[in-house]
Amino acid sequence: MNLTAEIAGVTFPTCIMNASGARCVTAEELEVIGKSRAGAIVTKSMTLNARDGNPTPRYVTFPRGSINSMGLPNLGYQTYVDLIPHLKEFKKPIIASIAGFSPDEFIDIATAIDAAKPDLLEINLSCPNIEGHPQIAYDFKAVEQLITKIRNVVSRPMGTKLPPYFDPVHHDHIAKILERCGIDFISVINSIGNGLVINPETDAVIIKPKGGFGGLGGAIIKPVALANVRAFALRLQGRIPVIGVGGIETGQDIYEHLLAGASAVQIGTAFVEEGPQIFGRLEQELTTIVARKGLRSTAEAVGRLTEL
Ligand code: SIN
Repeated sequence: MNLTAEIAGVTFPTCIMNASGARCVTAEELEVIGKSRAGAIVTKSMTLNARDGNPTPRYVTFPRGSINSMGLPNLGYQTYVDLIPHLKEFKKPIIASIAGFSPDEFIDIATAIDAAKPDLLEINLSCPNIEGHPQIAYDFKAVEQLITKIRNVVSRPMGTKLPPYFDPVHHDHIAKILERCGIDFISVINSIGNGLVINPETDAVIIKPKGGFGGLGGAIIKPVALANVRAFALRLQGRIPVIGVGGIETGQDIYEHLLAGASAVQIGTAFVEEGPQIFGRLEQELTTIVARKGLRSTAEAVGRLTEL
């Protein structure tokens, strides 16, 4: 079975990789991904300076989901610039995720990381967990201004990590902006921001930052993820490939993302919970399903969803 994916001219040995944020902060964690069957190494979103992130508890699972307010803990972009040559030894694409707290920070990080030659850059416009910093992706004017500026300093393929949108008008609007700005791929969705989970035993919230509000992940978000993959795939028609993220625990979940129009997928909560062996398991499960459907490659499944 051919599980490879092609995104912005880069070939991925399999279409299954980690999502930025999940077990991908330290050199050790990134090496584990490099040695695993993951189809790429995706870094944690890097900021200008190293960050400890938000106070704990800041990631908690509950039945069928997770809530997090990590607060972008990472080693600072310079450490990842220095790490990229080593990560290249694993001979799989490297996606460097970047996040800034101002346009100038985004540009400084993007300029430096672009020079280090990761295979692709993923610009995180959707972190919901930093007090005083709204998710940029919901401010369409700011998105266009920021992406235009970053595009000017980046020569590598460059994508954006988007939050879920909940109205077709918003999908229309943001898709047109991304096309105008020369974006090479999108990753949808980041966690569903500002959810609230209550512990029935203690009557308390289950994470500490932001009064308990945090990004929702895991199986419960799959329908929202699929809807966003489908909405963007229909609008972008392959001109900008879509990486599907959200709610993937099984090969069937990946197959559904492919049907909806994802060219590749990223695994967050399930990778945190299961560890690196998840990539081999998902590969096997997906292979079985795609073969049963009579297809020779995962690429053949992309966008084959039918409507009633
Ligand atoms: C976090 O570090 O708070 C999560 C990052 C993100 O949601 O983009």
